[in-house]
Amino acid sequence: MKIAIGSDHGGFVLKTRIRGLLISLGHEVTDVGCFSEEAVDYPVQAKEVTQMISRGEADRGILICGTGIGMSIVANRVPGIRAALCHEIFTATMSRKHNDANVLCMGGRVIGPSLAEEMVRVWLETGFEGGRHQRRLDLIDKKEG
Ligand code: RB5
Repeated sequence: MKIAIGSDHGGFVLKTRIRGLLISLGHEVTDVGCFSEEAVDYPVQAKEVTQMISRGEADRGILICGTGIGMSIVANRVPGIRAALCHEIFTATMSRKHNDANVLCMGGRVIGPSLAEEMVRVWLETGFEGGRHQRRLDLIDKKEG
């Protein structure tokens, strides 16, 4: 899978760990930064990752800031992006089964690396259930009137 990954300074350490996991699993990874713990502004990396998905250059995205909140706010403004902010296995799993999430957001100051790795594994392996959930996704972009 082609996966774009990005973080701000609050997510840098966890992003480095998750990038290593993705590569070890055989994924094609594009890391848009940041590349140190020097302070940066999370909308920059969130836009880069989500635009890669919009352009068809990545299948999925992973965004990590201190809490994951800023990244998820920015990502969900981009048409076609369904970003899920998750901090445990259940919501990471359900974000795929019911929401077909194409971006996983996590907080580097919220969860530890082992849990984050397990969440990423599950998130990548879990499929979308479609059916009634597809109908609900279709309603997200439906124009009213
Ligand atoms: C940076 O200090 C912090 O605000 C950022 O990483 C993130 O948590 C924002 O939502």
